[in-house]
Amino acid sequence: MSSSNVVRVERDGELALVIVHNPPVNTINAEVRAGLQQVLQTLQQAQGVRGVLLLCEGSTFFSGADIGEFSGPPKEEEYRHLFNGYEALNVPVVAAMHGTVMGGGLEIALACHYRVAAAGTRFGMPEVTLGIIPGAGGTQRMPRLIGADQALELIVTARPIDAAKGRELGFVDEIIEGDLRAGAANYLRSLIAAGKGPRRTGELTVAAATATPEVFERQRQQACKLYPNRTAAQVAVEVVQAATQLPFQQGLEYETKRVNECKQSVESKGSVHVFFAERETRRIPGLAESVKARPIKSAGVIGAGTMGGGIAICFANAGMKVTLIDANEQGLTKGLANVDKTYQSMVSRGRLSEADKAKRMALISTSLTYDALSDADVIIEAVFESMDLKRKIFAELDRVAKPGAVLATNTSTLDIEQIADATKRPQDVIGMHFFSPANVMPLLEVVRTTKTSDETIRTVMDLAKPLRKTPVLAKVCYGFIGNRMMEGYAREAEAMVLEGATPRQIDSALEEWGMAMGILAVFDMAGIDVGVNVHKANASQFPPDPAYYQADFALHDAGRLGQKNGKGYYRYEPGNRARFDDPEAIKILQERAQQLKVPQRQHTKEEILERCLYPLLSEGLRILGEGVALRASDIDVVWAAGYGFARYRGGPMFYAETIGLKTLLAGMRKYQDIFGPMHWQPAPLLVELVERGLSIGQWEAQQHANQTGAAR
Ligand SMILES: NC(=O)c1ccc[n+]([C@@H]2O[C@H](COP(=O)([O-])OP(=O)(O)OC[C@H]3O[C@@H](n4cnc5c(N)ncnc54)[C@H](O)[C@@H]3O)[C@@H](O)[C@H]2O)c1
Repeated sequence: MSSSNVVRVERDGELALVIVHNPPVNTINAEVRAGLQQVLQTLQQAQGVRGVLLLCEGSTFFSGADIGEFSGPPKEEEYRHLFNGYEALNVPVVAAMHGTVMGGGLEIALACHYRVAAAGTRFGMPEVTLGIIPGAGGTQRMPRLIGADQALELIVTARPIDAAKGRELGFVDEIIEGDLRAGAANYLRSLIAAGKGPRRTGELTVAAATATPEVFERQRQQACKLYPNRTAAQVAVEVVQAATQLPFQQGLEYETKRVNECKQSVESKGSVHVFFAERETRRIPGLAESVKARPIKSAGVIGAGTMGGGIAICFANAGMKVTLIDANEQGLTKGLANVDKTYQSMVSRGRLSEADKAKRMALISTSLTYDALSDADVIIEAVFESMDLKRKIFAELDRVAKPGAVLATNTSTLDIEQIADATKRPQDVIGMHFFSPANVMPLLEVVRTTKTSDETIRTVMDLAKPLRKTPVLAKVCYGFIGNRMMEGYAREAEAMVLEGATPRQIDSALEEWGMAMGILAVFDMAGIDVGVNVHKANASQFPPDPAYYQADFALHDAGRLGQKNGKGYYRYEPGNRARFDDPEAIKILQERAQQLKVPQRQHTKEEILERCLYPLLSEGLRILGEGVALRASDIDVVWAAGYGFARYRGGPMFYAETIGLKTLLAGMRKYQDIFGPMHWQPAPLLVELVERGLSIGQWEAQQHANQTGAAR
């Protein structure tokens, strides 16, 4: 029988096994589709085949469609014909699934007549998180199999489910324990023996009780609630509803039409942009392929506080030994208790077994002496934010660390060049800036100094993978990429509360726009004292504005530290993170405003958004122009992965293009006219791009061409 490089057919008596091998995760790309099409034609003519089994080799059944094809010509029609072709076969077709079966991977299985799965298989229809809907028949076939309500539950929530749940819902016919191929073949043989022929999903109808107006209304409301400012999930509700109204083939065509509309939305383009941007960050132009990472098998972490504990957890989760050091016994005990508490909460939520918790805890050892770090391949310092202290520690590390160990600092704001100069091996020193909570937040800013070696950079960028972090490379400057952009964003939020806006007004505007959390609520969570200390320690870096970050200072002076003592910009009740408006806080802010003679204003939502976002976007362009970030999409990743910037808005640089660079520049100038030039100087790159009529992407392409030209 015919076969291609990635799809082959094997005969097992009267069964034909269609076996796909497209590592690493059996993505349904053009080659797989061509292979499946070719095999389909042979199956249609094959003699003596009484049943077909579709399965994949490697770690998973089809993991999904090829997202790389999104930006090209639409492929839905091709998918539709292919899947319809398998559905139309005259012998029973069984999909045998394992691994992680998502999106298009699940949709092909729905077009098969029966479905079996290895225990532990996971399924999902995550399309709406990329701003689209299932486009290969999922919206029409899934409701026919499990009802409209449950199909929408899967599609709208985008939450993955396991094989047992799939069986309960009804799209998995049987769970196979043991060898999947043998078990699935037996299942197919038993179907044939029982005289069971094809059971085509397209010939079923959607159970009426699952498709009432109330169901669709409830799902529409869920879609609005889960995805404010977005439409894909609402489109999904309409298209699933069509499955109850249109004949099957017309329903499929309607799905194609709607998914292609979705792909044109900013919501989809922004989400897909961030998806690919996250895969791009590891590519470092100028770093030769021949530069290899050093092996990292063990780690040391200095400082068992908030960050140190979280970082130790990251290493233990990756199966690496880690030694945690603190200045005193008390710090160590407290730090270790916090680690234990974090793991315990994972156990109680069913995310981790007791045995795995014990294994991970056993990987973490503690010590009060630096000599315990002499074997560590990487050492990360996470003590208080003090240059003197950090320099002392790095001098000490220079003494104890083995040659070639990576010496990293988790500093948020300090000059890593100066820290590196405290050692005789600055080539091994680098910033590893984790975000809080370090074991949860996916971003890792990797900060290179002028002396960091390529090998050290490669080692840390590669280390991000087992630590399950998205690394973004930055150069040293105040605040690196993320916190430097935060400076103007938060400055304006604080300025506006002094001008008479309420904290709620600011945070609600930002959250409605798409920030995961309003910035003032973020400060309450992180601790007002933390921000105040940073601003005191770095006073010389900031413009001479007497009102600069004075909202934070005023609350701090009044003993309001945020959630940790129940009062900051808001008021909190014990054991509850909900925020309540607090007239007391507003009074303190007003008094400070009076002392500083801050003119009072009315703030529209539009002004709140513009004043917070424009400086953020402009600073991103300044960073790009200065070469602190390698590429605009890295800046997007930093804010999407580290600061809760709406992914569906594509990150700050993508968003700057969405609103238009001209609009951004005009906005910066508008506020410059109102508030003066101190804070509202547009980034030189912004001015340049507008003057030259270039997009960020065009400018980057020119830079790239100039660099490669110069290198020749
Ligand atoms: N908290 C955050 O959100 C956050 C985020 C990113 C980076 N950072 C940076 O991480 C670092 C640590 O911050 P944190 O919030 O975890 O602080 P923290 O106050 O929670 O912890 C600091 C720990 O360092 C210990 N320590 C102090 N001196 C020491 C010494 N000489 N040797 C060993 N241990 C010593 C302290 O006992 C304490 O346990 C800082 O540089 C901070 O800027 C913090």
